[in-house]
Amino acid sequence: MRLQRRGTPTQAYIKYIKFLVAPSLLFTLLLFYFLPNHKSIDKTNHHLFNVSAFLDSSTAPILEPALIKKQCRTGGVEVLVGIPSAPGNLKARNAVRDSWAKHLPPKWTIFFVLGATRNTEIQNAIIEESTQYGDVYQATHFQDSYQNLTLKTLLMLQWSHQHCQKAQHILKIDDDVFLNAPKFGEYLECLTKAQKNLYGRYKVKTFIEDDKTVIEGIKKGKIDAKCAKWKPYEHIYSFIDSKTHKYESYAFGGYLYSNVPPDRDPNSKWSLSEELYSGATLPPFLSGTAYFLSSNLLPNLLYEARHTPILPLEDVYLTGVLGSSRLNLRLSHVDGWSRFRPWWDDACLYTNLMTAHGLNPKKLVDITNAVIQLTPEYCDTMYYTILSNLNDVFSYISPNVRS
Ligand SMILES: *[C@@H]1O[C@H](CO)[C@@H](O)[C@H](O)[C@H]1NC(C)=O
Ligand SMILES: *[C@@H]1O[C@H](CO)[C@@H](O)[C@H](O)[C@H]1NC(C)=O
Repeated sequence: MRLQRRGTPTQAYIKYIKFLVAPSLLFTLLLFYFLPNHKSIDKTNHHLFNVSAFLDSSTAPILEPALIKKQCRTGGVEVLVGIPSAPGNLKARNAVRDSWAKHLPPKWTIFFVLGATRNTEIQNAIIEESTQYGDVYQATHFQDSYQNLTLKTLLMLQWSHQHCQKAQHILKIDDDVFLNAPKFGEYLECLTKAQKNLYGRYKVKTFIEDDKTVIEGIKKGKIDAKCAKWKPYEHIYSFIDSKTHKYESYAFGGYLYSNVPPDRDPNSKWSLSEELYSGATLPPFLSGTAYFLSSNLLPNLLYEARHTPILPLEDVYLTGVLGSSRLNLRLSHVDGWSRFRPWWDDACLYTNLMTAHGLNPKKLVDITNAVIQLTPEYCDTMYYTILSNLNDVFSYISPNVRS
């Protein structure tokens, strides 16, 4: 006997309902999954966020970089390197400690800046890490997230200003960035020399950009061949300090972006809504992967931050909106500064770079060690000339931004 496969009319009805209900339920779920996401990108009412209140309440961090604080107090820090890092990125921080941080010039020091995490396991590991290295600054009053990177970087700058006034330069760099430490050391040394040549370190009597004759005169007498290739005088400008009302010299450099329109795609990581930023182009800004600035800019930047609606894009906000727009600062593009990395993990392709972005912890250690051990002659072959040219073409067509 054959089984009756067709159901009763009610059963068929239920089948149809299932047929209709299931997809629409799925659709609704998907919609809910994506919609709040869109909203969370325009996030937390950034334009209403009270930066002053935020900065003022940052006096009680959970963890202080005890060792760095001590080095700063005794005047042992000339360049302070601040590295925003996510609480869970212990491997990345250790890779930095084990790679380029070991090859920094004397009197340069690093510290990490973290926000709060609800994960107790991670938190316990951070406490242990902090005890071991004394280079971790962790704030409790904000939840660590990519959207809050601007807040994290502001805290980094504020801590540098409050506790490390004798440092002449601040370098902000991400924990997945390769830094050619010897090369950047040489560049910054040349820059500092040039700054000192211009009437002492910071003090200038006049507006440097306008006083070409003075600069020409100084340039001629006081620049050695090693420094000349960096053209350090072209990276030094002057501004009027808001407190002293005097001219001071400064440098603010990295990978420079000019005439970039805001990304209006709500799904993009770098999305900026019209509400947050209405202009057709962004002010010139430096890539957030790594940039450096003279420390005498810190009080002025922090002051402006308290009076300028915050943006979730840290580099656009700090270097572009506060730096270029509000303070009218000139930003410099430094040779060899890259915001992505070579297509081949070959040390020779890194030797001429100052920075490269997007290296996982293992690669960061391997590449740095390989670059440090290279002799200049080693890369001076036909093979590397071809590889290097190929890399330029590939990078031009499609930058390597994978991790
Ligand atoms: C921001 O917070 C400060 C306190 O730190 C307060 O004086 C100020 O009025 C607040 N600003 C706004 C716009 O709410
Ligand atoms: C960013 O920090 C603010 C201030 O503490 C907090 O209210 C907000 O939840 C954080 N945002 C995210 C996305 O974690």
